[in-house]
Amino acid sequence: MENILITGAFGQVGTDLILALKENKPGATIVASDIRIPEKPKPGIQQVVLDVRDQEELRKTISRYNITKIYHLASILSASAEKDPFLAYDININATFGLLKTAYKEHVRSVIIPSSIAVYGPGISRDMVGSGVPTVPQTMYGISKVTGELLGNYFSMKFGLDVRGVRFPGLISYETVPTAGTTDYAVEMFIKAVEGKPYSCYLRPDTFLPMMYMPDAMTSLLMLSDADSGRLKNRMSYNVAAYSFSPEQLAAAIKRHIPGFEVSYNADERQNIADGWPRSLDSSEAMRDWGFSPQYTFDAMVSDMISNLQAIKGRRQNAV
Ligand SMILES: NC(=O)c1ccc[n+]([C@@H]2O[C@H](COP(=O)([O-])OP(=O)(O)OC[C@H]3O[C@@H](n4cnc5c(N)ncnc54)[C@H](O)[C@@H]3O)[C@@H](O)[C@H]2O)c1
Repeated sequence: MENILITGAFGQVGTDLILALKENKPGATIVASDIRIPEKPKPGIQQVVLDVRDQEELRKTISRYNITKIYHLASILSASAEKDPFLAYDININATFGLLKTAYKEHVRSVIIPSSIAVYGPGISRDMVGSGVPTVPQTMYGISKVTGELLGNYFSMKFGLDVRGVRFPGLISYETVPTAGTTDYAVEMFIKAVEGKPYSCYLRPDTFLPMMYMPDAMTSLLMLSDADSGRLKNRMSYNVAAYSFSPEQLAAAIKRHIPGFEVSYNADERQNIADGWPRSLDSSEAMRDWGFSPQYTFDAMVSDMISNLQAIKGRRQNAV
């Protein structure tokens, strides 16, 4: 039986991962930890306050619940990391090293650490970027994600700890508002459109970035986690993405559902981050090694996001 610890469990990815694990791993113990946890306990999981920088608390949590697998999601995302690179270094690099060390010493079987398209930097060909393209990021977030990948490979080779990871593109979801990533504009645009408000986008209208809907991201994490180890030619850096689009294309697609929606464009410092990232990704290794292929097309994602956000809005209105 699996006893699964999630760090950073109440962020954008963790919120959906809790739901995906409850559905796909019935019987598993799910320990959802974060630096802050919701006041109202969520059913079917254990909720634990845990700062991933506190190795002794981490060790105690692993031991208390006899943890066999960790999804390490605690992280400072791209825009926040540029505002406070020292904090980002501490949480994304120092704490990730500490977590791997503690997981190895406590005999945890496997650790999954999502990486990001932020590992790439300026100066590469930006279309259909594969995992073999050099990773020379110039942001602290990108540097921390490359370091996480290298540490994962090292602990796998040196200590036999089974560490795996995907490079996520921008993720689109409705359960949780994203914190401070460069691709958050997409979710923000949906939310404003459903609220009937205009949206001011912080990226230029023609900025193409690879993206994926959260249900496909969850499928990729669960498939990679369950994949036969012998088939993994590449442990830490499987690119996964579904499609690429620009803010103006997303705005046009939303307007087909909500015709009065208005978007203006005022690029800020996040444009510089986006300009260093791939426009599209080659995800063929994930398909080859563990059969991943996203289910949601761009149009299907847009329809599903709008109907789910409208349902959430309806529930909120009924509650008042
Ligand atoms: N969301 C995306 O679009 C995206 C894209 C690429 C990669 N990723 C990766 O996926 C992982 C999860 O990202 P996310 O979008 O859920 O981020 P998020 O910011 O929504 O959530 C991160 C969580 O970590 C928690 N946290 C921060 N500092 C902590 C600490 N010291 N100890 C414990 N918890 C702490 C936060 O409270 C938050 O709940 C990260 O590794 C991120 O790099 C996300």
